[in-house]
Amino acid sequence: MSTLAIATAKEVFDLLRDDLRAIERELGTDAVSNVGAITEIADYLRAGGGKRIRPSLLLLAARSQGYNGIGMIRLGTVVEMVHTATLVHDDIIDSADKRRGRPSANTTWGNEKCVLAGDWLYMQAFRVALEEHNFKVLDLLISLTQQMVEGELLQIEKLGLPITEREYYDLIYRKTACLFHVSMRLGSVLAGATEALETELGEYGRNLGLAFQIVDDVLDLTASEEVLGKPVASDLREGKATLAVIHSLEHGSSAEREAISQVLDDRSFARVKHSQILDILTRNGSVEYAMQAAFRFAEVARKSLSGLPYSDFKRALMWVPDFVVARDK
Ligand code: IPE
Ligand code: IPE
Ligand code: MG
Ligand code: MG
Repeated sequence: MSTLAIATAKEVFDLLRDDLRAIERELGTDAVSNVGAITEIADYLRAGGGKRIRPSLLLLAARSQGYNGIGMIRLGTVVEMVHTATLVHDDIIDSADKRRGRPSANTTWGNEKCVLAGDWLYMQAFRVALEEHNFKVLDLLISLTQQMVEGELLQIEKLGLPITEREYYDLIYRKTACLFHVSMRLGSVLAGATEALETELGEYGRNLGLAFQIVDDVLDLTASEEVLGKPVASDLREGKATLAVIHSLEHGSSAEREAISQVLDDRSFARVKHSQILDILTRNGSVEYAMQAAFRFAEVARKSLSGLPYSDFKRALMWVPDFVVARDK
């Protein structure tokens, strides 16, 4: 075991390789229905890959506390299935045509089938979770689902409007960070953690998840579609004000604020180009501002690990915040 505090990507991958393989197998067997379209859509999404960050967190939370049972394979599968189901629904809501470097499921199967397939996947995740025979697990998953749905709904209500940072953070907690929070807590529940440790690791997940969505929102503004594997500049085109944009709306000149508002209003770059918005954000240091916020949440996440005993799994958990803020997709 290295004495360095923070692991490398390869070490983390090696550490979780067998568990993640078991989760891939479980995902394959769980997403099979008698109705062809459901199996096809689920298979298509699984084959598209994805970072598998939520199941990895659940595994690390459980293993860093000495757990080594089948429950973490099951619940790791559950959080990835919940994530997949929300992606299917999210791409319909966002009218997105690309996901994981391929056409999104809605472009191939249409919205109607995808809504239903997403519902099916969601319920299948709950069926797998039921195998744990643990009400706390179900309680966490039910609250999570309600938070995520509320988050997406609140977002729709705010489309085209300038929102405050407080509203932004509430929204991204619900739609994204809550699943990171719950993944860490589920791993802790399996390991029989004390209430205090479960809470601390939940805080790790929450802060990491906030950093994760801030970075997702920055990448939406600055990345290329080839690297990201999903549409870029889509948030502005949908009328979503994310952290960097909120910063420029609060600190830019009146002409700059007007330009941003036009895009949010029009939900298109017809009058003001994407590059003009990027210039405004750069001039005001807004991308930098958002990334600084992500770094702070990543740091708070790392600090929430102090109650865990030293292990390679803990080192891996120390590494994840670095990965989240440095990623390019
Ligand atoms: C995308 O999540 C949805 C967000 C919460 C931003 P990921 O970036 O984890 O997607 P995959 O699973 O790696 O494709
Ligand atoms: C994530 O927000 C919402 C989910 C919980 C799926 P985004 O709408 O920004 O996610 P991407 O960018 O489409 O992956
Ligand atoms: Mg989306
Ligand atoms: Mg996004």
